[in-house]
Amino acid sequence: MHRRRFLQYSVSSCFAGGLFSTTASAEQKTAISDGPQLLPAGEIPQGKALPDLPVLKNESDRLGEFHGTLIAQEHEIPLTSGTAPTRCQLYNGQLPGPLIELEAGMKVTLTFINRLKEASTIHWHGLPVPSSQDGGPEDPIAPGETRVYRFTLPDDISGSYWYHPHPLSGASAQISKGLAGPIIIRHPQEKLRKLPEQHWVISDLRLDTQGQIPANSYADWVDGREGENVLINGQRHPQITLDGQQRIRVWNMCSARYLQLSLPGAQWLVVGTDGGLSEKVSAPQHTVLLAPGERLELLVIGESKTYSLNLLPYDRHRMMSKTPTVASILATVSFSAGKSPVTAGMALRAIPALPEGTGHLRALMSEKMADIMKNKASGVPPKGAFLINGRSFDVNRMDLHTVVNQVDNWQIINATTMDHPFHIHGGQFQVVQRSLRGVKTVPEYLSWKDTINLQPGEIVMVRMRQTSPGMRMYHCHIIEHEELGMMGNLMVS
Ligand code: C2O
Ligand code: CU
Ligand code: CU
Repeated sequence: MHRRRFLQYSVSSCFAGGLFSTTASAEQKTAISDGPQLLPAGEIPQGKALPDLPVLKNESDRLGEFHGTLIAQEHEIPLTSGTAPTRCQLYNGQLPGPLIELEAGMKVTLTFINRLKEASTIHWHGLPVPSSQDGGPEDPIAPGETRVYRFTLPDDISGSYWYHPHPLSGASAQISKGLAGPIIIRHPQEKLRKLPEQHWVISDLRLDTQGQIPANSYADWVDGREGENVLINGQRHPQITLDGQQRIRVWNMCSARYLQLSLPGAQWLVVGTDGGLSEKVSAPQHTVLLAPGERLELLVIGESKTYSLNLLPYDRHRMMSKTPTVASILATVSFSAGKSPVTAGMALRAIPALPEGTGHLRALMSEKMADIMKNKASGVPPKGAFLINGRSFDVNRMDLHTVVNQVDNWQIINATTMDHPFHIHGGQFQVVQRSLRGVKTVPEYLSWKDTINLQPGEIVMVRMRQTSPGMRMYHCHIIEHEELGMMGNLMVS
């Protein structure tokens, strides 16, 4: 008892000086009250130069083809200075998984070898791949099995995507142990293709005092699991060297952590979102927000100097733990200003607005607060407590229906008390309108999205066209909510 309290206390005070998002020890105790004792932040090496992402090898020498192999396996990797190596689950032994670099129009073959002791899948988040190749929960790959995923990319696609497991159960554990990786699709005519790039894959990791990744606590299931160590390209608090010409692609691969990022003293220009470049460059902004699953493409404007990349508190109305009140620092950025090739408002790409279609689909997110509170004592994950259209996920039940190539007007409603990032499989959508507490807003310019955050009470209208038949998931991208059943099936015929 004494020892536990002491450890919690020292953990919180280490957090305060380091990377962690709260300095209030009371809050820290709440956050981990039903969880394990955590490794002090100082025991994870930090301050190394930001590593480049390892790139997945193209095993094909044919023009326009990509053949790659992804092996999911348990590995022990030295992440800490004072404990045994950490048991992780990784693609090709790498944290994050290797970067898959593709070009528009490519014929892609990805061989997945499952060397885990449990079933898994690989889902290609945001890509318009055939339903049978989408790696959904209806198509599990058993331990020891190999599955070849095949798809051809459209000619007009570009942008930053990612891949991760999507099994019916185990997605939360597999992702929290390291299974996720980035995808970039380039297009020969894309406007910013000549800019040098920088890639920030942001994930988070929880380590206990033995340096191991603990199982979810009850609060993790309810609120979504946030690892205390926020990593960029697998490194804690890296040193980043950046110049004003660089196009930064940022991925939020955390299960539940929202990333509200700022570089105090400098500003961001947003040039792209989930589906590549936007219609225009945004106005300069002090902060950007990435909900779990989202991507952004950014440039930095400011004077030449060293900045701190700040993670600002974002109130997503967690039920079991309070919102941090203090910013934490994710990285040090040595910035050199150059003549920026990109200016606010500049046109980047023609995005034709999807017409108002004939389809109408509705997804209403709700929660069973009484069940969540009732289960708290037993600690049993509250399966079925987060719902879409009043139902918990059933892999064999089709919840919504549409037809190929019809434009669907989706009305997505968050009738819960927490934020939820809503994701639809099969391709990307355009946001038409948001409305929160009676205030309606429309986006200033078009962009392609596949994941969108909704605050409590928010209603979002999006338009989307499914371009091939089959079953498509839509769900909350807080991985724990997805696994508890906050997901539905759209049948496209
Ligand atoms: Cu990122 Cu259904 O997934
Ligand atoms: Cu997806
Ligand atoms: Cu959710």
